[in-house]
Amino acid sequence: MDYRQRTTLITGASGGIGAEFAKTLADKGSDLILVARSEDKLEALAADLRSRHGIRAEVIAADLSVPGAGDGLVTEVGKRGLDVDILINNAGFGTHGDLIDADPARIRDEVSLNVAVLTDLTTAYLKTMAAKQSGAIINVASTAGFQPVPHMAVYAATKAYVLSLSEALWWEGKQHGVKVLALCPGATDTEFFDIAGSDDAAVGSRRSTRQVVDTALDALEAGKPSVIDGAQNRISAIGSRFAPRRLVIAIAERAVRPKKG
Ligand SMILES: NC(=O)c1ccc[n+]([C@@H]2O[C@H](COP(=O)([O-])OP(=O)(O)OC[C@H]3O[C@@H](n4cnc5c(N)ncnc54)[C@H](OP(=O)(O)O)[C@@H]3O)[C@@H](O)[C@H]2O)c1
Repeated sequence: MDYRQRTTLITGASGGIGAEFAKTLADKGSDLILVARSEDKLEALAADLRSRHGIRAEVIAADLSVPGAGDGLVTEVGKRGLDVDILINNAGFGTHGDLIDADPARIRDEVSLNVAVLTDLTTAYLKTMAAKQSGAIINVASTAGFQPVPHMAVYAATKAYVLSLSEALWWEGKQHGVKVLALCPGATDTEFFDIAGSDDAAVGSRRSTRQVVDTALDALEAGKPSVIDGAQNRISAIGSRFAPRRLVIAIAERAVRPKKG
C-alpha cells in the first residue's frame, strides 16, 4: 500500500504499540492524526515526526472512555477538515484481578474504550471509506481474545469481541474496497502490564512493538482478516481452538494467576 497522500488516525498513539504505528507510518509518508489523553506526549511525538519526515501530524487530546467520545472525535476530525484514509483502533487497556473485586467504574471504562469507541469509530469511518471505495482499518485485538482468561475475564471478552467484529467486517469491507484487519499481539513490551496491574504475572517473553507493527502492516498488505504476532503466540492461540475448553481455561488462568503474598 502506498501510504503517501494518506491520513492515518491512530488512537492510543501516546505510547506503546500506537506510538510505534505512528513512527512507522510517518516513515512511510503518511500524514497522521494522533489521539490519546496525554497531550504533551502526543505533541512531542508529532513535532518529532513532522521534523523527521515532513508529514502533517495533528494532535487530538481526548479521553475515549467517556460516553460519546467516538462521535466527539469524528466531529473534531471533520472540523479540522481532515479525511481519514486509514484508521487504527489501538487504544485499550486491561484489568487484572477477579471481577468480584473489581472497581465497576474501571470495568465500565474498559468496555467503553476497548469495545464501544472502537465500534463507533469503525462504523463512522467504514462508511466514509466505502464511499471512496478505498481505505483500511486495523483493530487491535489480542491473543487474549482466543480463549476466556480468568483474572482478566472482561479484558479477554472485549478482545474476543474485537476479533469477531473485525473478521466479519473484513468480509463486508471487501465488498466496498476497504481492508479490515484484526491484529492480535501476544505479550508485548509496553506499559500495558503495569497499567493492568499484572506485571508480576507469568506472561512469558515479550515481543517488541516494532515486531507487532511490522506483522500488522504485512498482514494488511496481504489482505488477511486477522493476524497473530509471533510464532509462539500463533501456536498457542490456534491450539486453544482445538483443545478441550476446561483445559484451555485452566492454562489461561495459570498464565495470568496473581502471585501469592
Ligand atoms: N502490550 C501487550 O502485551 C498487548 C497484547 C495484546 C494486545 N494489546 C493491545 O494493544 C493496544 C495498545 O496497548 P499497548 O500495549 O501499547 O499499551 P500502552 O503502552 O498502555 O498504550 C495504551 C495507549 O492507549 C491510550 N489510552 C488508554 N486509555 C485511554 C483513554 N481513556 N482515552 C484515550 N486513549 C487512551 C494510552 O494513552 P493515554 O494514557 O495518554 O491516554 C496509550 O497511548 C491495546 O488495545 C491493548 O489491549 C497489548
